[in-house]
Amino acid sequence: MEPESLKVLRLHEHPQYLRPCCELINDEWPRSETARMISLQASCNHLPTSLILINDKEYLLGHCKLTAIPSIPESCFIETVVIKKSMRGRKLGSHLMKQVEKYCKNVLQLKMLHLSTKGQENFYAKLGYEICAPISIYGTHFGNNGSTPVSNNIQNGVSLNSNPTGNQLHPSLPPPPPPMPKLNSLVPNYSIKSTKTFMFKYL
Ligand SMILES: CC(C)(COP(=O)(O)OP(=O)(O)OC[C@H]1O[C@@H](n2cnc3c(N)ncnc32)[C@H](O)[C@@H]1OP(=O)(O)O)[C@@H](O)C(=O)NCCC(=O)NCCS
Repeated sequence: MEPESLKVLRLHEHPQYLRPCCELINDEWPRSETARMISLQASCNHLPTSLILINDKEYLLGHCKLTAIPSIPESCFIETVVIKKSMRGRKLGSHLMKQVEKYCKNVLQLKMLHLSTKGQENFYAKLGYEICAPISIYGTHFGNNGSTPVSNNIQNGVSLNSNPTGNQLHPSLPPPPPPMPKLNSLVPNYSIKSTKTFMFKYL
């Protein structure tokens, strides 16, 4: 496929691709359609931004999401990179990544990019990414002994600690606030552990 016939677009400027994009990503990483759509609908000109790869027949071929890294403002985190299953191995992933890099450098004025992967290290290494120490995209450190990012405790905007049944003692009163997090989940643990390989590239 000729690169001239391919376009990389911002998803939020082409909402007709929201549903196909949700299906493309969920075909690789199954997840609730509602949660996936909420994540995709968050795309904006600032971060997070979902970029999509389209061919000359306006057919969706790939997706990539850019997320802010609060502790490294000159970088962003590349995630959910996916090419349609039937179209893999034709350099479309490489083309998407190169366009994403141009976008990050020229539009977002970033100096570097970070990502994590489990199994696609060679794909990214061929694009110039190097292995680096794990980073947290949620802040400056991982809590919870480093095994789980702190914000994984919240799904779909609902704290898993909250009491969905309301105030048991006084049913007319609103539910009590969630309990304070355990102290050890607030203490920084600088020995970040991850089963993924973290990689970065200077732009
Ligand atoms: C990873 C992915 C985006 C690559 O897209 P693609 O269009 O198939 O990749 P390309 O054709 O551009 O491949 C470029 C090079 O990387 C290599 N490569 C691609 N996927 C690879 C893999 N899984 N392992 C090793 N090498 C790989 C190709 O062989 C090719 O090498 P070459 O230049 O020597 O021929 C695609 O396979 C995909 O969507 N995978 C499932 C989702 C996923 O795992 N995403 C990454 C999340 S971190």
